[in-house]
Amino acid sequence: GRSARLFSSQSPLAPPLAFCFDIDGVLIRGPNVLPAAKRALSILEGDNPFGCKIPYILLTNGGGVSEQKRCQKLTKQLGFPIDSDQYIQAHTILKTLAHKYAKDPVLILGGRLDTLRKVAQDYMLTREAHRVWPFHSLTEIEKETAQTFDLGRTRFTAAFVFHDPRDWALDCQVLCDIIQSDGIVGGPYINPKTSSNPVELVFCNPDLLWKSDFPRPRLGQGGFKAAFQGVYQALTGSQYPHIQFGKPTRETYNFAEEVLLNRLRYMHNGHALSRPHVYMIGDNPESDIAGANGAGWHSVLVRTGVYEPELGEPSHIPTHEAADVEAAVQWAISREL
Ligand code: G3P
Ligand code: MG
Repeated sequence: GRSARLFSSQSPLAPPLAFCFDIDGVLIRGPNVLPAAKRALSILEGDNPFGCKIPYILLTNGGGVSEQKRCQKLTKQLGFPIDSDQYIQAHTILKTLAHKYAKDPVLILGGRLDTLRKVAQDYMLTREAHRVWPFHSLTEIEKETAQTFDLGRTRFTAAFVFHDPRDWALDCQVLCDIIQSDGIVGGPYINPKTSSNPVELVFCNPDLLWKSDFPRPRLGQGGFKAAFQGVYQALTGSQYPHIQFGKPTRETYNFAEEVLLNRLRYMHNGHALSRPHVYMIGDNPESDIAGANGAGWHSVLVRTGVYEPELGEPSHIPTHEAADVEAAVQWAISREL
């Protein structure tokens, strides 16, 4: 019947079913795995009426460590192998851009110096730099991995906010420094609007809020962006133009769909496949539901994260609402029968 054809890997022409899971507020909250998460993944890993694996990827606005390191941790937390080729975090998309900046000094913010340096080098951002502010003393680990160079003669061509900054004052100061001095910290102020090659500013996660293990949602990188643009506007009278990646941007969802198609080809022994029926399961209407709807995917909003029904209608309407990720997977599979 249709259901057997749909899931059997021998029928690559059938529109396959696939899932895309948000992480924070859906699978985990802070350090804690949500109980429904393991049950949901065991359904996709074979414990379903068809007895076969149903492909899925993880798509998070989180980050700050290498994909490999995060996948090792997720494998332990979720109890199923999570490969780095089924995992996308806020800054993974930068791998496709690194060639553009490989030779230039770039500023990277949003995480620990040593871990971010490893991520940047994995992406071939070979001359990245960090932390430049009189009030910031480097930690012992940062001292070991810091590279010294002549700031007055180094022009930063871009600034990437990989993950959620912790020290907003420091990072706002550093961004204002390099942008207002045309890339040279401590250099003369040059109006960026008159620069032939103004510093490119890239944010990787627009989330104003996200759900950790605290009862109320927490400020994310979108909060830092609002703070920086507020400071920059106070200094210069206008906000600074920037590039935005992360959910719900089309760039990130197009990138995720490519990753998912590669995963499907890998699971169907390299067979080319028709476009899959993708179900995105998320907790944040602004990032997960808006992005999935925009990508033409089915979107399922779960009530275990940022979205709280008592606060009223979600800002973006999902295909379906579910109590948790297990109920979401069961609904999607029943729909595809
Ligand atoms: O910093 C992570 C947060 O912004 C949201 O993560 O997994 O819900 O996209 P996630
Ligand atoms: Mg989330």
